[in-house]
Formats: sequence, structure tokens, C-alpha cells
Amino acid sequence: MIKAVLYTHILAATAWIGGSLLLFALGVLLRDKTAQKQVYAHLGPLYGYFETFWLIVLWATGLTMFFYYGFPGVLSHAPDSELAKLMHVKLMIVGALTLLTILHMTIAFKTHGIERTKIQNILSRGSSLAIFLLNLVIIWYAIGIRDALG
Ligand code: HEM
Repeated sequence: MIKAVLYTHILAATAWIGGSLLLFALGVLLRDKTAQKQVYAHLGPLYGYFETFWLIVLWATGLTMFFYYGFPGVLSHAPDSELAKLMHVKLMIVGALTLLTILHMTIAFKTHGIERTKIQNILSRGSSLAIFLLNLVIIWYAIGIRDALG
């Protein structure tokens, strides 16, 4: 049963990270500004719902495993253990990712189809770069947790 939860968690991670890599690559590599605007105009909202769905699945399956493996006890009784430290960092990263995603999507939906202000542009691009980088880091911690669980 817990194997199915892990399977769904990994499936969600591939969809969530894969989506972010693709959109990031589009933003960097698609140099034609008109084409880029059109792609984002059509793909943007769909991408937003797609990513939100998988992030919710990640939280739901992640929390299920969190309680199944007794992480609340590990964090409170063995806070200096390798496992507790890795989970602590992972939770901080996922928390930051989630907040940055909310910020990014709020700006995206608010300004869909209209011009953005300079500050909205900086916040939108900054958050997507940060999400992209944090996604690369989180896999490292996920692997470490799996190793430590044995
Ligand atoms: C962006 C969000 C997340 C991503 C990309 C992510 C990614 C992953 C990946 C790829 C694995 C598999 C590692 C492996 O098999 O080597 C994993 C395992 C795990 N994740 Fe997450 N995760 C996320 C959020 C969460 C959250 C929110 C929690 C808990 C509150 C969580 C708890 C766990 C646990 C306990 C495992 C270990 C399960 C096991 O190895 O049997 N994850 N995660």
C-alpha cells in the first residue's frame, strides 16, 4: 500500500519538476518574443492548473509517508539524527517552493493578457528561477531520506 503512495509521489515529482523544466527552457530558449507571448498566453493557465494539481498530490502523498514512517517522532525525539536533519531541510525547501508558487501564480493569473509592472516582472521571474533551482536541490534530499530510511 505504502509502495503505491511512494509511486504516486514519484510520479507527481516527475510531472511537477518536468513541467517546470520545460517552461523554464521555453522562457530561455524561445527567443522570438511574439511566439513566446503566444505560447505563454495559451499554455499559461493550463500549466498553472497542471502544476497546482501535482503539487497538491506531492503534499498529500508526502504527508501520508511522513506519518506512516513516524517522522513526527523522529523530529521530536531524535532531532540531531541524519534522517531528521534531511527531512527538516526538505520541509523548509518544500515550504519555500509552495510559497513561491503561490506568489508566482497570483501574479500570473492577475496579469494574464495584460502588461506587467516592473516589480511584477521581477517577482515573477525571480520566483520562477528560485522554484527551478529549488527543484534541483530537493531531489538530492529526497534521495538522502530514502537512503536513511533503509
Ligand atoms: C515539491 C515537492 C516534493 C518533491 C519534488 C518530492 C520528491 C520526492 C522524491 C523524488 C522522492 C523519492 C526519493 C527516492 O525514492 O529516492 C520522495 C520521497 C519522499 N518524500 Fe517527497 N517530495 C516533495 C514533497 C514532499 C513532502 C511535502 C513530504 C512530507 C511532508 C515528502 C515526504 C517524502 C518522504 C517521507 C519520502 C520517502 C519515502 C520513501 O523513500 O519510502 N515529500 N520525495
